[in-house]
Order: sequence, then C-alpha cells, then structure tokens
Amino acid sequence: MCGIVGYKGKNNNAIKVVIEGLENLEYRGYDSAGIAYLKDNKIYIEKETGRIKNLKENLNLKEKTNLAIGHTRWATHGIPKKINAHPHQVGKFTIVHNGIIENYLSLKEELIKNNYTFKSDTDTEIACAYLDYIYKQEKDILKSLQKLIKIIKGSYAFGIICEDDKDNLYALRSSSPLIIALGKNENYIASDVPAILKYTNKYIILENYEIAKISNDNITIYNKELQEVNKTINTYEEKYESNTKGQYEHFMLKEINEEPDTFEKTINSCLQNNFKDINLKKYTNIHIVACGSAYHAGLVGKYLIEKFANIKVYTQVASEYRYEKTFYDKNTLVILISQSGETADTLAALRKAKDNKIDTLSIVNVFKSSIARESKYVVYTKAGSEIAVATTKAYLAQLTLLIALTLNLSKKTINKEQITKIKEQITNLIKKDDYKTIANKIYKAKNIFFIGRGIDYALCMEGSLKLKEISYINSVAYQAGELKHGTISLIEENTPVIAILTEEKLIEKTISNIKEVKARGAHTIVISNEEIKNDEYDEIIKIPKTDELLQQLLTIIPLQLIAYEVAKLKNCDIDKPRNLAKSVTVE
Ligand code: G6P
Repeated sequence: MCGIVGYKGKNNNAIKVVIEGLENLEYRGYDSAGIAYLKDNKIYIEKETGRIKNLKENLNLKEKTNLAIGHTRWATHGIPKKINAHPHQVGKFTIVHNGIIENYLSLKEELIKNNYTFKSDTDTEIACAYLDYIYKQEKDILKSLQKLIKIIKGSYAFGIICEDDKDNLYALRSSSPLIIALGKNENYIASDVPAILKYTNKYIILENYEIAKISNDNITIYNKELQEVNKTINTYEEKYESNTKGQYEHFMLKEINEEPDTFEKTINSCLQNNFKDINLKKYTNIHIVACGSAYHAGLVGKYLIEKFANIKVYTQVASEYRYEKTFYDKNTLVILISQSGETADTLAALRKAKDNKIDTLSIVNVFKSSIARESKYVVYTKAGSEIAVATTKAYLAQLTLLIALTLNLSKKTINKEQITKIKEQITNLIKKDDYKTIANKIYKAKNIFFIGRGIDYALCMEGSLKLKEISYINSVAYQAGELKHGTISLIEENTPVIAILTEEKLIEKTISNIKEVKARGAHTIVISNEEIKNDEYDEIIKIPKTDELLQQLLTIIPLQLIAYEVAKLKNCDIDKPRNLAKSVTVE
C-alpha cells in the first residue's frame, strides 16, 4: 500500500530510476504519484493524480539529477487529489511516506500552536512538519529522526530529504516495509526489491525503528539509540524480468496462463523439501489466518486438512483474529497465508500468535518479506511476481501448497502421473472458450450469486470476490442450503446464479437449491465434474473429475476466467481495479 523509491548516486539518473521503480510498485496503489528531485542545488516537486504515466508526462527522464524520492499513493487520509499526493514538503524537509500516523491530529494541534499551516489533508504532511519542528530545536538530522520515532505512533516507512544535507538521503521505518539497496556509486531505497532489481540485487532489510543515512557510496544504519548497526547484505534470488504482458492483453490473463507452471513448480518444490524442518505430527489444533483471496485459500485448506488428516482447523480473517479471543493450546500451529508477505493484519495476527508462544508457519510468495522473516517456519509458493491486483496464480499456488501440507499431515499420496495430468487439465481448461459465452449472458446483471456446499462454497467465495473486484458487479457467495433463509428474496427474473457442484455426495442437495432459484426466474450456470441433467440448469461448464484432494485446482479456473471476461466486456481496468491495492500494509 503506497510505494516508495529513492535514489542517491553519482550516475545522474535519479528521476529515471525513481520513475521506473514506481512503475514496478504501482500495484501498491495508483491514485496519484509524485517525485522530489535535486537540480541545481534546489529541490523540485512534481505531482499528478492518477497513474504514474500521467506524472511521467511532466518529467524529463534524462534530466541529470543525483538525488530523488518518489511515491505512488493509495489514499488513506485525504481524497486522491494533487495536493494530497506525496512528496510533502514543510520547512527544511521533503518526505514520502507509506503507512498511517495514528496520532497525527494531536501533533497537528501542537504544530498549529507553533504557527505551522497545512496545505493537504494528509497525516504525512503533519509528520513532515513535526520533523521540521523538532529539527529547529535539535539542529541535527539524526537526533531529530530519533526523536520523531519516540513521538509518532502508527506505521511508517519514510524517504526523507533535508535542505541542509543534500549529500544524503535518509530513511526510517516501523511496520511498513522498506529496503535499502546497494549499487555501484549509487544506492536506493524501495518498498520492495523488484522495484530496483534492474540495477542491483543486493539489499539490506531495514528493521523497525532503524534509521538509514545513504550517500553515493555509503550506507549507515542506526538503531533508535543512534548506535551503528551491522546489517546483513542479502542477495535477491529471482532474476530481473521486465514486467511485460507479452502476447496477452492483460497481466491477469497472462498470470492465469502461467498457472499450469505455477502449480508444477510449487508442488515439486514442496515434495522435494517435504516440510522437513517442521515436526508437523505434534500439532492437533491448526489455525489458518489470512486476508482476501489468501483467506479463501485457507478455507479450502481447512476442508482438505480436516477431511484427509482429521485435524481440527479454525479459519479466520486476520483483521478479526488479531483482536478476538483466541483459544490456543500447546499443540496449536498458526498458519499465515499471504502472497505479499506484508499484509498488516496478517502480520499482526502472526505477532499475536508469537506473543502467546504459539508456533507459526507462513505460506508466502515474496521471499524474505516481513511475514516470512518473522514466522517460525516459512514455506514459499512458487508463483513468481504477480502484477495484476486481483490474484490468480498466487492463489492457485496457495491451494497447491495446502494440498502438499495435507499430504504431509495425512496418509494421502499423489504420484508423478497425477501431477502431469492435473497440469495438462489446468492448461486445457484455460484454453476453453465457454467463458466468453457465459460472460456475455451475465455482464449486464446488477447482482450475481455464487452457491455451493462444502469445499465448493469456499471456491464460491473466491469466484465471487474475483468477479466483484474487477467487474464491480455486486456478487455474493452463499452456502447453497442457506439461500432460502432470507437471501432468496433477492432472486429476480434473470438474476445469474453460478452453482458449483463437485462434491459427489452433495450434488443432489445443491441441485435442489438450483431448482429453487430457477423456479424464481434465476439464470443458472452450473460448473460441475458430474453429468447433470440438462433441464436442471441454463448453462453448464464441464470440468474434469479428479482426486478430491486436487479437484479445486480445476474448479477455480472457470471462476477466474468468467470474472476476467465479464470485466473485459464492461471495459474495466482489469489489472488495476478502482480503490484496490495489491499489498495492504495498513490496518
Ligand atoms: C489485498 C489484495 C487481495 C489479496 C489480499 C491479501 O486485498 O487486493 O488480492 O488477496 O490483499 O494479500 P496477501 O498479499 O496477504 O495475500
């Protein structure tokens, strides 16, 4: 949520590096963007609403500059308009910020009493002004930053330029992620490594309350006592790939087409490592905690683990879990699932478990992200970088990993032939063109319902989320048997109802529910691995039948592609849906 990039170096391409970096971070927020750069010993600021391409039009990327900070915003305080875009400048300081300053109102009151005035509605401008206010007393940048840490509350990653020291770029963080990357005669700050991977793969992770002072050829990290800290220099393993859509119209479609490989890589990596560092046998009580699609993957995991491993699993969204009363025992394992590894609520849930001395296992896609680093155990999904805000391949990778975990917890096995076959079946399902036909029939609807029972209901949750996040059609996932207890009143002539039927023993039950909505005028679309009589639906998408442990890897494909085709017909901005961000680092 919000992306930060900063550059200090001798190579004179600060604007270019920062803008390219922001383009790589645009998935973190895209309602406005801005940059501050040093030219002729003066700091210039450019801001624009909307995408980074709008900002880019106002800039000369070839301008010779050697210090810059940039920001792509997901609005928290203040609507998305130019004045609220970062960087913010007050007195001697210019800053970019990712996070939320919780006590900004009381700080604002104090600043107003001290004659500060404000242009924006943001908490960031207050933090910037407060830093300037402290600096007027301290007259030392590091001491001022140290004091700022003691005063501001909330989450933050800051990139900071001070008028009085244009030879250095400063940074500090608490909760929101920030890395410092090391180049040749130049150094960088960024919200994550891929932003600057074109230039370097060497980086330092800034921990909470650490301050970085960055010059062309030197990086010094201080703790909150202002003592120098020795930091490990990490190497980012993945290669730099320019994020292009290739032959595809959207990243989402490209990423759906990468799902067969994602499945294969993730399952093979799991089967090789086989959770060997974890004594899984000891856990008799599992909690799965996550947000959004990752939570939906967790719901599928619950069905699989309970059914095949006979272990009790409690699932909860992280924003609830972090505050609710939780029942732990000495054999509890808390599993956190997160693509980004930075989601603030999931991170807080992880910390809650750790505070209660409970073992934690994270299922994460981004290497060495905060959740990965703070968990007792971590297993990585192998989805590679995912650009589309609506997740597809990373979700499928999470399902795959939960299958591998279930194999380890139970007596179930799968063989190489099954892996090859599933990969082939996923590929064939992606190639089907039924989805456009279905999309054409439903894209004008105001409400769309997804119904299913058991594991199919968990998949309905994800199908419904996918549809609403990218097509803006109101959509609800319902347990098929529960619909008649109220919600059925919303079914009108032609309301689309998408029913998933893959669990053999529940198929007849769900068919009865389809009949109930059909009798009230619904347009019914069935996704099933069984033969269903043709008077029991209006449309059908047949999917292959496979082992129950693996079935959901096939069921999800039509759901993702129906959402995609509907959004395309509605001319929506598929890869960057309104109001969303891919990495949600605020509460
Ligand atoms: C955001 C994204 C969702 C994602 C959720 C959890 O809301 O838009 O697509 O599922 O965060 O993200 P995580 O990175 O923790 O999987």
